[in-house]
Amino acid sequence: MPDAIIAEGLVKRYGQQVALDGLDLAVPEGTVTALLGPNGAGKTTAVRVFTTLLSPDAGRATVAGIDVLRNPQALRSLIGASGQYAAVDEYLTGFENLEMVGRLYHLGIQRSKERARELLERFRLADAADRPVKGYSGGMRRRLDLAGALVANPPVLFLDEPTTGLDPRARLDLWDVIEELVAGGTTLLLTTQYLEEADRLADSIAVIDRGTVIAEGTADELKSMVGGDRIELTVDRADSLATAEDALRTLADGEIQLEPGLRRITIPVSDGSQALVEAIGRLTAHGMQIHDVGLRRPSLDDVFLTLTGPGMSMPTNGENRIPTDELQTEGVIR
Ligand SMILES: Nc1ncnc2c1ncn2[C@@H]1O[C@H](COP(=O)(O)OP(=O)(O)OP(=O)(O)O)[C@@H](O)[C@H]1O
Ligand SMILES: [Mg+2]
Repeated sequence: MPDAIIAEGLVKRYGQQVALDGLDLAVPEGTVTALLGPNGAGKTTAVRVFTTLLSPDAGRATVAGIDVLRNPQALRSLIGASGQYAAVDEYLTGFENLEMVGRLYHLGIQRSKERARELLERFRLADAADRPVKGYSGGMRRRLDLAGALVANPPVLFLDEPTTGLDPRARLDLWDVIEELVAGGTTLLLTTQYLEEADRLADSIAVIDRGTVIAEGTADELKSMVGGDRIELTVDRADSLATAEDALRTLADGEIQLEPGLRRITIPVSDGSQALVEAIGRLTAHGMQIHDVGLRRPSLDDVFLTLTGPGMSMPTNGENRIPTDELQTEGVIR
């Protein structure tokens, strides 16, 4: 599948401030990639380059086969974008805003009106359709702006923090809309601070920090990078722990931890659910009472904090501080 969005060594500086520092990215057609990164990582800058609002100082960006610098005009008709801050006309109504977008995309009067009605309905704004936007709440503006990005059914969509400021209901609605679009073949690059969102929507996640991609992979691959599954078992008596450790040693894929005060034993394992069943079987065979047992997987939060936290932020020599021998998957730490 060809890549719908490509960045090669993108650099963007604002004066002394380096916002993009050699960003590389490839988003295959019809897939969703989430750019995940802390404040100031360069997410918005990257989106602005892809959507022709900003020229890079070095490197190359191609969207839908078109170089962003060479033919921005042609590119704009193929992309839809929603910025981090809603860009809507305060003095027009919601309907008029969307209709105007349709006209800008040359949809024609009739089609523009139809599309505006459809999207206002879809984003639960039908009741407010004929009110000027200046009376809209923050979340309503956000939804209107997102609807605007979809008016022309563009094949490539860029959404910068699409659900920031939306209530849980509106967020779930948008996730549904996004899933429908992607099922229909749309390519999507979205930025988010919400790991849950990246986990739910994205085929691939690129973790970005200080203007460069420091890790990428599926949510599962990234989770494996910060450590694999582990079984946490609490037994009834602290003096059973040693027996449990002996019984489970051959299951461990790393160092077993004992916490006698909590009567807890933690075993790193490679095949979580299989190992869990086996562990329970072995302890039961030893006549041991298990008080509590669970399979723990690292969350994307763990990934985010580990990769971008102060202790882990990438040093200037680009050295990767996560021991690569801990990588068990195809995710890549750069
Ligand atoms: N117009 C500007 N002038 C000067 N510096 C800027 C400008 N826009 C962005 N920057 C700087 O570039 C860097 C990247 O900013 P960017 O807005 O791309 O980050 P971000 O990942 O979108 O952050 P956030 O999560 O807060 O939205 C930051 O250090 C920021 O201070
Ligand atoms: Mg931003």
